[in-house]
Amino acid sequence: MDFKALASRYKTPLFIYDFDHISAQFNSVKEAFNARKSLVCYAVKANSNLSILKHLANLGAGCDCVSVGEVKRALYAGITRYKIIFSGVGKDDSEIEFALKENILMLNVESEAELKRVEAIAKNLNTTARISVRVNPNVDAKTHPYISTGLRKNKFGVDTDTAKKLYIYCKNSPFLDPVGIHCHIGSQITDIAPYRDATAITAELLRSLKALEIDIKFFDVGGGLGIRYKDETPIKPYDFAQSVLANLSGTDVTIVCELGRFLVGNSGYLLTKVLYEKQNGTKRFVVVDAAMNDLIRPSLYSAYHEIETVDKNGGGSLADVVGPICESGDFLGKDVELPPLEHSDLLVVKSAGAYGFSMSSNYNSRPRAAEVAVKDGKDRLIRARESFEDLIELEKEYLKKDWDE
Ligand code: LLP
Repeated sequence: MDFKALASRYKTPLFIYDFDHISAQFNSVKEAFNARKSLVCYAVKANSNLSILKHLANLGAGCDCVSVGEVKRALYAGITRYKIIFSGVGKDDSEIEFALKENILMLNVESEAELKRVEAIAKNLNTTARISVRVNPNVDAKTHPYISTGLRKNKFGVDTDTAKKLYIYCKNSPFLDPVGIHCHIGSQITDIAPYRDATAITAELLRSLKALEIDIKFFDVGGGLGIRYKDETPIKPYDFAQSVLANLSGTDVTIVCELGRFLVGNSGYLLTKVLYEKQNGTKRFVVVDAAMNDLIRPSLYSAYHEIETVDKNGGGSLADVVGPICESGDFLGKDVELPPLEHSDLLVVKSAGAYGFSMSSNYNSRPRAAEVAVKDGKDRLIRARESFEDLIELEKEYLKKDWDE
């Protein structure tokens, strides 16, 4: 990757995504499930850029969405409607209505109250809603507490007994068609055991539903496959698939997974320019033009992202790499070993493809960074850098109004 050329062409801070890497990641999962009917969905929340969605649509991906905005993005980018799942713990009536009218594959329901709303809206529209129920298996995914979702204390899904009751309710409703079963236990998972445990619990429920003549067609194992940020040993897609398949022998379900980070995380780089160095006593800081508004993961989860120099080598000393935002929590890396740096030197923050841009903000009135795709050695802009005009667009109109008007 020619970071120097990309920086001079598109300026910094800049997100760069390697589309060939995304293809390779997608194909590795698809192959792992080769022996079965499968649908590899992309969790749009990880990075919702339309060009990324289109690239994945071309590879045959479906999408897991958690808001109507994500459903609209998926449709806009050309994802087949029968491959779109709408998940999430809270859906507004208008969102449910939109999803039903668009006839997407299924709505993933997370509570009894939600199921009743879906039923009422489907009835109003005189249609039948295809749904899945999200099971909370009470399994510890052994990941960061903020991104662990499969424990009873988390807000997600319903326990297996409640799930069973909901399925029976669906069976007796002309407006609900229970086609799927779903379970997602967390994110950045690097231990296979929680997957095995969670799918065993969900598969048992699947079998008991079959006995009740509730015929589930889609078995959604969620997402969460971890990647390497530092020294983690990620689960191989083959082992992931085997841990799922081992629990499903004798069943004829289509396996669905909804991966975000695994598909795009390591494809992404955040390229940033050094503004200057400073020393507070013995503490060395490298101040760069990217900040927590661009990549909040280090500040929010103490997440580690490797940071490398682009055109300077050699050892140096430890420094905190910090942004211009007025918060002490604004850092991209702590105690990073870096050579002496000068104004305009480039640093690259790695593994920034997932939950980077999609969690970025305009905090401190900073326009969001541009995004670039690289494929077959060619690069192109996939999101323009925001301007000051963009920042004030939705406000400026109201300046003209007086309180007395
Ligand atoms: N499916 C559901 C229902 C989810 O809630 C999530 C992620 C995924 C799939 C995709 O998970 P993945 O394959 O990307 O691990 N912002 C955090 C991650 C939050 C994940 C939320 N749910 C981070 O930066 O680490």
